[in-house]
Amino acid sequence: VHVEWDVTAAEKGGYEHFMAKEIMEQPKAVRDTISPRIKDGRIVLDNITLTADQLKTFRKIFIVACGSAYHVGMVAKYVLEKMTRIPVEVDVASEFRYREPIIDEKVLVLVISQSGETADTLAAMREAKRLGARTLSIVNVVGSSIANESDDVIYTWAGPEIAVATTKAYSTQLAVVYLLAIYMADLLGCLTAEEYAAYLTELQALPDKIEKILQNRENIQYLASQHFNAKDVFFIGRNLDYAMSLEGSLKLKEISYIHSDAYAAGELKHGTISLVEDGTLVIALATHQNLFDKMMSNVKEVKARGAVVLGMTTENNTQIEQVTDHVFYIPQTCDVMLPSLTVIPLQLFAYYVASMKGCDIDKPRNLAKSVTVE
Ligand code: G6P
Repeated sequence: VHVEWDVTAAEKGGYEHFMAKEIMEQPKAVRDTISPRIKDGRIVLDNITLTADQLKTFRKIFIVACGSAYHVGMVAKYVLEKMTRIPVEVDVASEFRYREPIIDEKVLVLVISQSGETADTLAAMREAKRLGARTLSIVNVVGSSIANESDDVIYTWAGPEIAVATTKAYSTQLAVVYLLAIYMADLLGCLTAEEYAAYLTELQALPDKIEKILQNRENIQYLASQHFNAKDVFFIGRNLDYAMSLEGSLKLKEISYIHSDAYAAGELKHGTISLVEDGTLVIALATHQNLFDKMMSNVKEVKARGAVVLGMTTENNTQIEQVTDHVFYIPQTCDVMLPSLTVIPLQLFAYYVASMKGCDIDKPRNLAKSVTVE
């Protein structure tokens, strides 16, 4: 008997696409990124040279990145500001470079990149260094240009990511953001011992909660089967759920070629709502307890114009069922870490929709894994 040995199929580990494999690898990737950095109940960040004294001198943090890494930056802005009380600005690297940013040695520039080779991100980092900023990068590829040239690097231990649309690199970047935010907040004296311990407990519980969502993926597959013919999809959310709307919308566009837009839910009335008509699909993210009622009002506004609404919230918020057409529940965690859970159903939805449409999921048209031209 002659058996054909297909190397690519073997590398996909039984999955139809690398993206599916990489989605499923996320509990491990996040665990591998977090675990080695927690020793005896304390965060230990590899060989980081940034000192507590230096940290206290920073008047501002800039975050620069492209694509999904920029969306991680948007989450990081909320998280770092909330936990360290240092003002944070986040920019797409190609804009940052050309807007004469106000940079000096009292600025920390946080650079986020899976490949460590994205041309605009690298150039933005070099410009920041030239102007005197301290640089810290979050990178997946060991020994890449951004990792080598930044003052400090914290690696995401996601392993090689093959699919163009990022999933496990995104999730591990978020994990590093949480490690960094807790670490910095502690050095700055912003956390009590109890708060510090509570954050670590939540952080270490994330991989199992991601696993739990993945086990429920058939629900998302079903929702995708109901909506894969959609022409337009709108994602709405507030606060961190707005950052997640941007990522959910990008994932769907990248691999399924469905037009989609993300809107801060409070801005609906200033734009997107004019596009909502009978049958328009709206994905409403309502994971934050303090904004839940506000989100429900926004859902009612789009429902009144005929929208079909898929809602996402945490397990306790069953009243969402009264206003949405379908609901997907995620486990509870502290507010700042909800993005690590919210992103999983969004990735799965994009994946299943693209798969049902027969798209070239791992190599979407016109897109590259790493953009090394400007
Ligand atoms: C490309 C990829 C995206 C990625 C972006 C930034 O557009 O398709 O998935 O988010 O580049 O890449 P980086 O390697 O810097 O994270």
